[in-house]
Amino acid sequence: MKVIITGHTRGLGNRLYNFFLKDKNHSVIGLSRSQGYDLKYSLEKIIEIADGCDLFINNAYCGTAQNQLLQRLNGRVKMMIVSGSQGGYFSNLIPTDYGQHKKDLSELCHLISLDKNSNTKILHLDLSSLEGNDVDIDDPNNLKCDYLTALDDVVKTVDMWIQYPCFNNIRFNFKITDLLYDQISRKMGTKEELDVLLNKIKSASDIST
Ligand SMILES: NC(=O)c1ccc[n+]([C@@H]2O[C@H](COP(=O)([O-])OP(=O)(O)OC[C@H]3O[C@@H](n4cnc5c(N)ncnc54)[C@H](OP(=O)(O)O)[C@@H]3O)[C@@H](O)[C@H]2O)c1
Repeated sequence: MKVIITGHTRGLGNRLYNFFLKDKNHSVIGLSRSQGYDLKYSLEKIIEIADGCDLFINNAYCGTAQNQLLQRLNGRVKMMIVSGSQGGYFSNLIPTDYGQHKKDLSELCHLISLDKNSNTKILHLDLSSLEGNDVDIDDPNNLKCDYLTALDDVVKTVDMWIQYPCFNNIRFNFKITDLLYDQISRKMGTKEELDVLLNKIKSASDIST
């Protein structure tokens, strides 16, 4: 397979890049700023390179670039894996550009998957905090979390999907831990709405405290 991946030098993208690289049946191209491919300025070049590939991994986040790549490459690549974020779920509680972009991305993936004319198979990864996540807790775009998804779990899911692309969304495990609760309430400046959410979660899972 010809595999193209954005954001291959660190984090999840790097783990996926190395996974595909070790299989000699694949040819893999990584596109990141350090290689001269900045999603902010080189979108057209990236689309040209990815056109016609078997698998495009739309991984690096840069504003609305993931959403644009999804729309522009729909129908032009056989399969596409999109790195989303459950941060989108909190976009009502803590409005950030990041949360909004990821929410839009998730919706766009779902809509495209419903289109009878689209022949691109799409997998949206609804990611929670990833192993190695070492965020700056003062960054409004980031929530520090102590419940982490192992990168290898994502790689195994991707490996399964490319063999059986019969689903289009995966939501990885995520927990509102005490640390995350503190983070969210600090960023919101109030605990009220968050407590409503927590009460909803508690009554849904029927855990008494
Ligand atoms: N980490 C988490 O906890 C987490 C949670 C939920 C969702 N996600 C999502 O998962 C994806 C990967 O996240 P990650 O944390 O693994 O990434 P990361 O460790 O922050 O690495 C980002 C990668 O993207 C590249 N990159 C950054 N800006 C770029 C740009 N403007 N143009 C091209 N390449 C760019 C970087 O390489 P260069 O510096 O060389 O460009 C690097 O390879 C992202 O879409 C992120 O939103 C992550």
